[in-house]
Amino acid sequence: MCGIIGYAGKNEAAPIMLDSLRRLEYRGYDSAGLVVSRDKKLYLTKSAGYVQILADLTEEGAQMPGHVGLGHTRWATHGQPNDANAHPHISDGGTIAVVHNGIIENYRKLREFLTGKGFTFSSETDTEVAVNLIQYYYDRSHDILRAVADAARRMEGSYALGILCEDLPDTLIATKRESPLSIGAGDGENYITSDVAAIITRTRNIITLRDYEIAVLRADGVELYSGELDRLTRKAEVVDWDVAAAEKGGYPHFMLKEIMEQPESVRRSLSPRIRDGEIILDELEIPDDYLKSISKIYIAACGTADFAGVVMKYNLERIARVPTEVVFASEFRYNLPPIDETTLVICISQSGTTADTIAAMREAKKNGARVLSIVNVVGSVIAEESDWSLLTLAGPEISVASTKAYSTQLAVGYLVTLYFAKVRGTVTPDAYKTAVDALVRLPDAIEETLKLQETTQYLASRYFSSNDIYFIGRGLDYALSLEGDQKLKEISYIHSEAYAAGELKHGPIALIDAAVKTPVVAVATNKRLIDKMVSNAVEVKSRGASVLALVTDVTAETMRGVAEDLITVSDYEEAFLPSLAIIPLQLFAYYIALQRGCDIDKPRNLAKSVTVE
Ligand code: AGP
Repeated sequence: MCGIIGYAGKNEAAPIMLDSLRRLEYRGYDSAGLVVSRDKKLYLTKSAGYVQILADLTEEGAQMPGHVGLGHTRWATHGQPNDANAHPHISDGGTIAVVHNGIIENYRKLREFLTGKGFTFSSETDTEVAVNLIQYYYDRSHDILRAVADAARRMEGSYALGILCEDLPDTLIATKRESPLSIGAGDGENYITSDVAAIITRTRNIITLRDYEIAVLRADGVELYSGELDRLTRKAEVVDWDVAAAEKGGYPHFMLKEIMEQPESVRRSLSPRIRDGEIILDELEIPDDYLKSISKIYIAACGTADFAGVVMKYNLERIARVPTEVVFASEFRYNLPPIDETTLVICISQSGTTADTIAAMREAKKNGARVLSIVNVVGSVIAEESDWSLLTLAGPEISVASTKAYSTQLAVGYLVTLYFAKVRGTVTPDAYKTAVDALVRLPDAIEETLKLQETTQYLASRYFSSNDIYFIGRGLDYALSLEGDQKLKEISYIHSEAYAAGELKHGPIALIDAAVKTPVVAVATNKRLIDKMVSNAVEVKSRGASVLALVTDVTAETMRGVAEDLITVSDYEEAFLPSLAIIPLQLFAYYIALQRGCDIDKPRNLAKSVTVE
C-alpha cells in the first residue's frame, strides 16, 4: 500500500528519502516520486515503476538538492499506475506539493467545485483534489496552516497528507484522518512517515499523529496543532524495535528471516507475561466481574490475523467455554451482529492500521461492546482506540506474507484464553499448571521444529509445479489449513483452497482430478481426530489425489500408508500445537514460491498494510 516519507533537516533530503522509500518498497507499490523545496521553489521527479528508476533519474538524489522534501510510493487506487498519477502532486497554482495515502471519498464533488473555481487537473487522482483544495484556501488566507485545516474539514474518507508550500522552504506540514501517519523526532532533523520501519534506522522517537491533528516540522523541532489550530503537546514514544530486525541480515528474503525469528518473537511475547507459573497480563486491567459476565466473543480481523483468530476461537470455546465467532472485519463492519455490554470484540492486527479492522472496532464500540486488541505496532490506531490492548512483540515484520506476527498472535491468544479460563473458573488448577508449563517450553519447541527446513524444501520440490493444491483439516487443524493455504497462494500464486475435512463430500471432493494427481495437504496433528482425518485422506486418495500429510510423531503411524509424503512435528499440548505445525506450512509455501521464481517479499497485487477499504 502507499508509503509516505517526509524530511526536514540539515542534510540533503533526497538521498535520505530514497533510502526510506526503499524501506517502504515491501508494502507494495507501482510508482514513486520525490519533491524537494529549495529557494522558494518546488522540484519534482516522479515515475511509474520501481524506486530504482527514481534513484537513477535523480542520480541517487544528487540532482535534487534541498533540505526539506517529501517522497511517496503509490499503490494505485484512482487511475492507472503511470507517471501522471504518481505522487507527489503539485497544485494548479504551483505553490503546494502533496503526497497522500488513503481515499478521499467525496473527491468527485470537490473536483467539480474546484473546476468551477478555475482549477485544472492533470491526473485522475483524488490526491490532486486535495492539493488544489489546499491551494484554494491558501490563495484566500495566505496562511498554510489555516488552509490545511480548512481543506481537511471538507475532505471525506481517509487521508494521510504530507504537504510542502514553496513560500515556506524550511517547513513540512502533515495531517491525517484514518490513514496512519507518524512523526519521527530526530536530532536536527525530523521526519513524517506512514510506516515507522522506514525511519527506524534514523530515529526511534515517534509521535503518532491523531485524526485531524496538524504537525509542522522544521530542522529544529516539531509543533503539533489540533484541527482547530490550538497548540498541543505530546511526548514522543520510544519504539524499541531492533534496527537489525528491519534489515535482511544475510537471509535471501525477509520472509525466511522472519520465519527463523519466530522462536525469539514468541519468547518475547510470552515470557514477560508468565511469572512463577502464573499468567500476568498487567496491561489488561480488565475487571474480573466483566470477564465473568462476557456472554459472547466476536473476533474481527483480516487475512492471516483472522486465521490466528480462528485458532483462538477453538481454544476459547474449549478451554474458557465462551461462545466465540470469528468474522472478517470487512463483513463485521457492515453486518453488525447483535452486541451489547456483555459482548467482547477482539480485534487482531499486525499493523494496527488495517482500515476494515479499524472500522469494525469503532462500530463495535459505538454499539456498546468492549474491545480488546492484539496488535504488533505500538501507538497504532487500533492499539490506541481499543478499550484494552495487548502487544505482540514480533518486532517489525517486513515481508508482506505474515509469519512471525501470526505466531505471536497465536501466542498472545493462548495467554488470553488461559487467563480468561482461570478467571471464569473453567480450568482446573492442574490443567492450568500443565498448560502454563507447556507455554514456557513453547519457544524451544518452535526452534526444534525449524529443523524441518530441509525436509520441507525437498517436499516443495515435489509439488511446486502443481496448478492447484488443497488443504484439509478438522478443528485446530482446519484453522491451520486456512493459514497454510493463505501462505501458499499469496506468495506462489498457485491456486489453493482450505476446507474443513468433513465438508469434502459436500462439494470440494469434485475438484480432485486423478489425471493430475491433485495434491491435498492433510493437516492431521490432532490425536482425537486422527481416525476421521485418515478417512478423509483415503477418500481423496481413492479419487486420485496425492496426499501430503502433516502429522505429529503420535499421529504419524495411523496416517502412514495412506499419504505419499509425511511431514512430522513433535506432539504437543493440543491447544498450542498450531504454533509448531504452522512452521512446515510456512516453509512449504516459501520454498514452493522460491522454486517458481516468485517475488517472495513483495507478491504481486498485495500490500503489507491495507489502509483503504
Ligand atoms: C498475511 O500474509 C497477509 N498479507 C494479510 O492477510 C494480512 O494478514 C492482513 O492484511 C491483515 O493485516 P493486519 O494484521 O496488519 O491487520
